[in-house]
Amino acid sequence: MSVTGSSPADSKPVNSLFRPIPIATLVPDSVADFDIYVRMRHDDYPVLFRSRILPITMDVLKRLSENRHECILIPTSQNREYAEYLERHLETVLTDESVPVLERSNVLYTTAHSMVENILANPESTDMMRSSKDLVASTAGFLLREKSAFEHLVGLVSYDYYTYTHSVNVFVYSFSLANRAGIADQKTLTDFGEGALLHDIGKSSIDPKILRAKGKLTEDQWKEMRRHPVSGYDILKNHGVFSDLALHVTRHHHEKMRGGGYPDDLKSNKLDPLVRCSTIADIFDALTTRRSYKEPMSSFQALKLMHDEMSADLDPDLFKTFVELMGNPQG
Ligand SMILES: [Fe+2]
Ligand SMILES: [Fe+2]
Repeated sequence: MSVTGSSPADSKPVNSLFRPIPIATLVPDSVADFDIYVRMRHDDYPVLFRSRILPITMDVLKRLSENRHECILIPTSQNREYAEYLERHLETVLTDESVPVLERSNVLYTTAHSMVENILANPESTDMMRSSKDLVASTAGFLLREKSAFEHLVGLVSYDYYTYTHSVNVFVYSFSLANRAGIADQKTLTDFGEGALLHDIGKSSIDPKILRAKGKLTEDQWKEMRRHPVSGYDILKNHGVFSDLALHVTRHHHEKMRGGGYPDDLKSNKLDPLVRCSTIADIFDALTTRRSYKEPMSSFQALKLMHDEMSADLDPDLFKTFVELMGNPQG
């Protein structure tokens, strides 16, 4: 191991300079444009293990897994390089049966989180939109191949709410619900998954102060917030790479079965069953994650509240299927 006393910026707190990464994201004999650091104990300053100019060989990975590090880290200044590396190698990792499903699920979450975070920051990038389509296709294959993947992903769900964590959660829940409800056609599922993953992309155009507001929004703030489905629809449509189904999910995920939703006040007969799947997933994730103004509900509490207070807004058969899915993820 090469050890260095230097750090990317000695004056900043360590936790903002480095981020931990799962070892399973590192692919043998790959080229990566980021440095790898390790930390032996929680309080230690990270030390350089492998410089970005060296390949990640089998030997590097062996030494990394044999040494008892507290964790493996990369500099946060190289997040972009790491995200691009993850995107390039996701399919390789997800199809590698020698890696346990739990580890592959972890890699999937890490990749999806960093990708959606980047997309929300750069919604004008068609290249990133195309990458998200590849990610959805790889995830779809993984979820359909590996029976236990959904359960592992649910176990890894982040209960701290950020738009990018919420987006990935809604994608995983919606996709699995649609599949459990009998949708098996992979093209339909991936078109749907793209819409579910990017359903809140319109929030990239909403004032961050409103997104981060604690407590109830004012009437004006709420009006602004309610723009996000149409804004998201416009963003995706302008890229010209998404299906009508993906656009439909983005525009209509806040509609209600009995009417009264937004933006178009559609009723059940105008709502595609897949949009209804995304609405159930969206509400469930919002209830079960932590916000600055509320603690997360347990899955049971959230499902009970949805049953008791929102049943007229949700598709009853799909809600029943969702309850079954959460109770018995492997079916
Ligand atoms: Fe939304
Ligand atoms: Fe949402």
